Amino acid sequence: MPLPLPLRRTALLVLLLLLAAVPAAAASAAVPGPQPVAAAGPAGDAAAPGYRFVEPSLDGIGKVYMGREIAQVMGWQGAPWLEREEREQEERGSRLIAALQLQPGMVVADVGAGSGWYTRRLAPRVGPQGRVYAVDVQPEMVAMLGEIARRPGFGNVVPVLGTTVDVKLPAASLDLSIMVDVYHELEFPWEMLASLVRATKPGGRIVFVEYRAEDAFVPIKTLHKMTEAQVRREASVFPLEWERTVRTLPWQHVVVFRRK
Ligand SMILES: C[S@@+](CC[C@H](N)C(=O)[O-])C[C@H]1O[C@@H](n2cnc3c(N)ncnc32)[C@H](O)[C@@H]1O
Repeated sequence: MPLPLPLRRTALLVLLLLLAAVPAAAASAAVPGPQPVAAAGPAGDAAAPGYRFVEPSLDGIGKVYMGREIAQVMGWQGAPWLEREEREQEERGSRLIAALQLQPGMVVADVGAGSGWYTRRLAPRVGPQGRVYAVDVQPEMVAMLGEIARRPGFGNVVPVLGTTVDVKLPAASLDLSIMVDVYHELEFPWEMLASLVRATKPGGRIVFVEYRAEDAFVPIKTLHKMTEAQVRREASVFPLEWERTVRTLPWQHVVVFRRK
């Protein structure tokens, strides 16, 4: 989720002031963080990391997974931001698509596809023999994806209404799936990643694209960013092998895993 343009300069100023205040803050008594109010583990797997519940922070849902608070879902009303004219210039989505090394005939999933900005760029790469499952949990977004699927040349797009715990895709069907600006806001990240792993062919790839939390200059709200280390930590509890991280995008990193 973006910081509104006029706020970006203010945010930078506030950040610099905060950085300047760090030594003073460190010298004072420790300030308690959000306090756990409950805990629960993902259903059906005793070995899975659990969820903790805290007072929600701004933009968060008050649910903590592997040390990070999950962000609020971007509502379908945010579709115009996803479709903004300057998106290619800001994010270089074409560079991301090239980095995926797609081949005609591949079966791919755009998980959390939103208004389909990436779906429309994936579909021509896999061609008429391939398929793009465009998955979202918001019916309004799925309606937009359905509109794309009806356009000439996009007959290989299959809109899918998923649930918060299941991508609802056939087992071992995917060569590649991509989550662009999605994973950090999954309400049930463990369950969703488990279902995505099930839907991926052995040797298939799962690609996380997240705004870089390591970079304070990326103008996106804190909970809507993730560090590469955190992505890799959360993937590490699944049979996924890290393959590479693409660092050539202006704001995001692209962390690629292969299903073992
Ligand atoms: C910030 S938008 C990004 C949309 C798109 N990937 C893009 O970059 O244009 C995040 C999307 O993830 C979807 N989402 C959230 N939780 C989901 C889940 N469990 N399964 C599928 N989609 C989900 C939201 O409905 C929203 O459309």
